[in-house]
Amino acid sequence: MLVLDGKIASKSVIDSLKTEVEALKAQGKRAPHLAAVLVGNNGASETYVASKVKHCEEIGFGSTLIRLSDTVTETELIATIDELNKNADIDGILVQLPLPKHIDEQKIIMAIDPAKDVDGFHPVSIGKLVQGLQTFIPATPYGIMLMLEHFNISTKGKHAVVIGRSNIVGRPMSILLSSNNAFGNCTVTVCHSHTPNLKEMCLQGDIIVAALGRPEFVKADMVKDGAIIIDVGITRVEDSTAKRGYRIKGDVAYNEVAEKASAITPVPGGVGLMTIAGLMKNTLQAYREKL
Ligand code: GUN
Repeated sequence: MLVLDGKIASKSVIDSLKTEVEALKAQGKRAPHLAAVLVGNNGASETYVASKVKHCEEIGFGSTLIRLSDTVTETELIATIDELNKNADIDGILVQLPLPKHIDEQKIIMAIDPAKDVDGFHPVSIGKLVQGLQTFIPATPYGIMLMLEHFNISTKGKHAVVIGRSNIVGRPMSILLSSNNAFGNCTVTVCHSHTPNLKEMCLQGDIIVAALGRPEFVKADMVKDGAIIIDVGITRVEDSTAKRGYRIKGDVAYNEVAEKASAITPVPGGVGLMTIAGLMKNTLQAYREKL
């Protein structure tokens, strides 16, 4: 059984990005620059954004973190995005989700210039993904593909079962896996809360991507021998014995599923790190496409 270690796979991506940035700087060019917008003080979002900024620094990218109060209006947030759209020194823009309830997330996503949409959430980006065109692939599905590539796991001809149909992970993941390219060529089943026979579906999966946000949902009896298990879950579960008062749990019951799987991503230390790698690759792509 192979542990798909996100530390190893993401380091390889980050190291190659570092080399590319050094080459740009040696040519006297400016570094790619990512702007992150964080609204309010959701603990998990704070952690993710801090990690994104830290990775920019490590690679040599520029970064700008804009923090806004959770009382910001939709109009004010759109005005902030407009400024970032117009700023020629900024290559990529991300607005950390979720946003406070009074803000329409879709409106915010659509305010981002598609040329700077490094999260790949804009309908233009998703539309291109559906049509197999060059685009920004949403960071988590992109990171998963980079992970499979790093460990030489081929998707071709396999049956992939994706649990979850979110715009951020499940839906784009299913599109990518069924695409006619090196990242795809799978037969894909998308399961969700209205799938009556989920266990039978999962048992057919050569690859299972668990992205439903329910801790330890995928059990050993739902997995066929030799399956490749990708765990996208990162739920904070209260635990008074843990240092921070919570533990991060994946969507897969790791210990029991690992005994049947041929490969599995741990949580933490798996897909989460790859998401950042995907985002960083998109930021460099945004920079290059602007030149
Ligand atoms: N919230 C959860 N995942 C993501 C992500 O990949 N990007 C942004 N912007 N927000 C998120």
